Amino acid sequence: MARTKKSLEREVVTLRKQVRLLNDKFRTRFDFLLDEMRELGYRNKLSPEKNEANYSNLVSVIEPKKEFSDLVLKKDVEKQVRMAVKQIKNYNKMVKGYGLKRILKSNSIALNFIGQPGTGKTLTAEVIARTIGKKLFVARYSDLVDSYIGETSKNITKVFEYAKKKNAILFFDEADSIASNRTTVMNATDSENNLTRNVLLKELENFDGVVIFATNLAENIDKAFERRIHMHIMFNVPDDHERENIWKTLCRGLKIERDVDYRVLGRRYNFSGGNIRNAILNAARIALNENKKKISMDDFVKGSELVEKGSLFMNGTNYNKELRYIG
Ligand SMILES: Nc1ncnc2c1ncn2[C@@H]1O[C@H](COP(=O)(O)OP(=O)(O)O)[C@@H](O)[C@H]1O
Ligand SMILES: [Mg+2]
Repeated sequence: MARTKKSLEREVVTLRKQVRLLNDKFRTRFDFLLDEMRELGYRNKLSPEKNEANYSNLVSVIEPKKEFSDLVLKKDVEKQVRMAVKQIKNYNKMVKGYGLKRILKSNSIALNFIGQPGTGKTLTAEVIARTIGKKLFVARYSDLVDSYIGETSKNITKVFEYAKKKNAILFFDEADSIASNRTTVMNATDSENNLTRNVLLKELENFDGVVIFATNLAENIDKAFERRIHMHIMFNVPDDHERENIWKTLCRGLKIERDVDYRVLGRRYNFSGGNIRNAILNAARIALNENKKKISMDDFVKGSELVEKGSLFMNGTNYNKELRYIG
């Protein structure tokens, strides 16, 4: 029986918590031993540097490699992304040139990427990071959330500290879970959520860098974020023509037969970019299995059908009635 994404996610969250707990336990024991040694006159430095393991549990670090040429976006969407990049790169010019000093205090920018899974939000963040020469720190709600009271908001503060220290772009995936609407406090979870959101708002206000939120449920994001987010960028599900371009872009440099027709592939399969990537990987596996030198149209067709079937399994039987996308 295939496990669902949700159940896997739950397991990862539990495991992370256990690792952190273990980490804490070792740390306590270690500090205790150190104290005893000091009392016995031991002077050398034994203590590990304030351990980064604590941080790296919370974010995945991406060394950005992707460029604008790897990205297929609608013209106006790409324009917005380029505008954000331009501001970050030319902050001084913008502030001095237009006399903005009084109303713009720091080169910080907060963006909100809204769109279905697999529409290129993470990829775009990577492209921005690469273009401005910074690392990308991806923080997911499931990695930040902690069942201990107050720990989730501490994790948020830690993530901002870490990004500041390493001069990285901070990318909050599943942002609607962290920045959700205010609720009237009914129980401990509600007050915890309110605390988390307030800490996020405060950190955002003080952060002198680039923060990107990604969500497919923009309406769940608390209104208080509106003022602090400078640009909302919509990532649409690609149309026929964009899909054709995504196929082309992702197949650049691959060993393929001459019969491959991106136009047909783009029209036939109502895929997200993420689906197309998976279909290509399937096609390569099929070709490998048959010891072919190159990937053929037939392999891409079979690879795409596997993605459609996968979608069917993941979403029940209504695939044809309502197209769903997997990232
Ligand atoms: N607009 C796009 N242009 C080019 N490739 C895309 C696009 N959207 C998705 N992809 C492909 O799908 C993969 C997954 O997309 P991703 O950026 O993770 O989507 P999201 O973050 O919106 O869920 C990307 O790494 C890329 O290979
Ligand atoms: Mg993503």
